[in-house]
Amino acid sequence: MATVTRRIGLSLGADICWPMCYEAMMKRLDLRIPVGDDIVDFEVERVTIEPFDLRQPCRYDLVVDRLTHWYHTSREWIKKSVLMDNLYVFNNPWSVQSMEKHTSYCAMMALGLPIPDTWMIPPKEYDPKDDLETTLSRYARLFDLGQVGSKLGYPMFMKPFDGGGWKGVSRIDSEAALRASYEESGKNVMHIQRAVDPFDLFVRVIGFGPQTYFVRYDPTAPLHDRYTLDRDFLPDDQRKMLGDMCLTINTFFGWDFNSCEALRKDGRWYPIDFANACPDSQVTSLHYHFPWLVVSNLKWSIFVAATKRKMRRTLDWDPYYEVAARGLSFADRLDGYARIARQRLEADRFEEFCATHLRHVDEVAWDFFGSDLAKDAVRQKVTALFPAHEIEEFTELFWKRIQLWRQQSAGGR
Ligand SMILES: Nc1ncnc2c1ncn2[C@@H]1O[C@H](COP(=O)(O)OP(=O)(O)O)[C@@H](O)[C@H]1O
Ligand SMILES: [Mg+2]
Repeated sequence: MATVTRRIGLSLGADICWPMCYEAMMKRLDLRIPVGDDIVDFEVERVTIEPFDLRQPCRYDLVVDRLTHWYHTSREWIKKSVLMDNLYVFNNPWSVQSMEKHTSYCAMMALGLPIPDTWMIPPKEYDPKDDLETTLSRYARLFDLGQVGSKLGYPMFMKPFDGGGWKGVSRIDSEAALRASYEESGKNVMHIQRAVDPFDLFVRVIGFGPQTYFVRYDPTAPLHDRYTLDRDFLPDDQRKMLGDMCLTINTFFGWDFNSCEALRKDGRWYPIDFANACPDSQVTSLHYHFPWLVVSNLKWSIFVAATKRKMRRTLDWDPYYEVAARGLSFADRLDGYARIARQRLEADRFEEFCATHLRHVDEVAWDFFGSDLAKDAVRQKVTALFPAHEIEEFTELFWKRIQLWRQQSAGGR
């Protein structure tokens, strides 16, 4: 049997903590996985930024990417490598580039998910352009924002149609506040969306390949406490439904790694923000949940690279629309979407692969997240983000939460 090496590239920006842990754990795992007639081992490298020939080959089997959504040169190198060299990348760069919040709302409304009512409003101001005056004077209808507001109903949220990171988001309780927010929105194209209010539970579902993870989220807490430490806050049927929604969204858009925010009101779940491909991965926000992220990333990376899973270059939406057209109940429809999702993500094959080849990962993680190196990764990230006098306190806080994860984790001893 020949030994062949699969190369995994990490395409990184300001990331510190998770790549350190990912690289160190991959070393500790020291994998040699039989695949066909070969024994496969793995090398992890950080991708560098440099001039490239469009016809040059790509040395990676998989790239875990954190740059596509804002750094063009890496994105274009990734697109070339997917098109020309069979590279697999987390996530599909075309869909990250073009599928903003608005598209994700429309698509999931079309599939019948209970997205709160949402309107788009033409912008308050424009950059000057040659044909702008003529176009607007001919076709832009004067509108009464107050009327749109009362059709939608208060309270509502105003947010950029392609937003993220809470930028430009405001809660609006009255017509006066709506007018004031619109005045402030400038050149942004905004949505107004009916608030899910009051909600009794806010959950973030993180999907990594076919793996899903549920966190109760507290949007009113300071950043380091927004991901709460609560467990068992979801009954099994709701957990399944939210997991199915997340995998439906992720596979619809070709996202291996995404998070979906949903709010519960009167027993019903409303997804409100789910175009978050490549979500926050830092220990300073995830803390207790951080080991799950590193382990899930590793498992899905190893599976993809070892099996040479083929990247789906196009999105192919028709099968979802076919399920939507069957006139099924909501539960059956979601079941139909989730079946497509699990198939696309090879969920059964992945589970079998983990059970056969990656049984020791949880134990290695349990050991690793008690090590000096893991603590150093936490400290380095805290040092990059916090003022000097808070470094010690927050390093200890996040470390303590990771140790709580070790005490409670099923992989513990
Ligand atoms: N329809 C809504 N109902 C209730 N709260 C909302 C709604 N839309 C947004 N929010 C609140 O505003 C926050 C930011 O909005 P979100 O859509 O998540 O934008 P971003 O992509 O910037 O995170 C959410 O985390 C939530 O607390
Ligand atoms: Mg959000």
